[in-house]
Amino acid sequence: MFDEETGATIPHIAEREISDEIAISVQELDVTYRTTFEKRPTLKQAVVRLGRGKRSVKTVEALKNVSFDVSRGSVLGIVGHNGAGKSTLMRAIAGIVPPTQGRIEVVGRTSTLLSLGVGFNRSLTGRENVILGGLAAGLTKDELEDRYDQIAEFADIGDFIDAPMSTYSSGMGARLAFSVAVHLDPDILLIDEALSTGDAVFKEKATQRMQELVNNSSTMLLISHALRTIINMSTECIWLDHGKLMMRGNPEEVVDAYTEYVHVKKTSATMNDM
Ligand SMILES: Nc1ncnc2c1ncn2[C@@H]1O[C@H](COP(=O)(O)OP(=O)(O)O)[C@@H](O)[C@H]1O
Ligand SMILES: [Mg+2]
Repeated sequence: MFDEETGATIPHIAEREISDEIAISVQELDVTYRTTFEKRPTLKQAVVRLGRGKRSVKTVEALKNVSFDVSRGSVLGIVGHNGAGKSTLMRAIAGIVPPTQGRIEVVGRTSTLLSLGVGFNRSLTGRENVILGGLAAGLTKDELEDRYDQIAEFADIGDFIDAPMSTYSSGMGARLAFSVAVHLDPDILLIDEALSTGDAVFKEKATQRMQELVNNSSTMLLISHALRTIINMSTECIWLDHGKLMMRGNPEEVVDAYTEYVHVKKTSATMNDM
């Protein structure tokens, strides 16, 4: 590649070695979902065809050409409207959603790369999920026995810990997921809107625990609609809009630009949240 202004050669991004300082490198990432569904335009047609609808494919470009690095020990806040691609980005980094184009490099033991609630089986009890999650993260049975009590105590969901997770409220599920995630000494912690679910006391406790992890140089990605939390916790922030990276930088500046943009848009469009 060639810089027109200076005439200098620019190394292509894919050839670059990622340094020790970088925990996550996302390069020119596209994620496109493809869903097939039955197209049934009207009830009458559906009845006439006796349920044999036409197969249609719906594609959603959830992320488009997104590139950024995350330094080790930093906290990256992610903001953007509903459907902007925030959760998709996190799932891609967690390895749950494959990139359609581009690449993602994650430095650190991927077994400790945790995402809230991912991997929980709702037909099992909370206790069973904690144990499976811990084993999946590479803890030994003895380590798990120690941690189990801490996890259960922190989640503070009482007897529900021994009930199937399908009976949990979303708040309970989130509390347990958060508790598991933060008690397994993650190198990289992925938190998707965790703080919006708990009550005030849990939020306080959760924030404190995240701060501890950050102080111990864990790297963290944080999605939240609570922009105050983003500003308080993040060292850097990115803003996604319809799958595109709009801005990256100082959390306060990014949040300001984002809220300004939303306010301007709000008058003409239907933005139901921030
Ligand atoms: N599993 C999926 N299959 C098809 N489309 C999806 C799927 N998950 C998310 N999407 C779509 O991708 C876009 C981004 O979604 P998401 O990453 O959940 O956004 P956000 O977390 O910012 O609200 C949305 O248009 C959403 O409808
Ligand atoms: Mg989301």
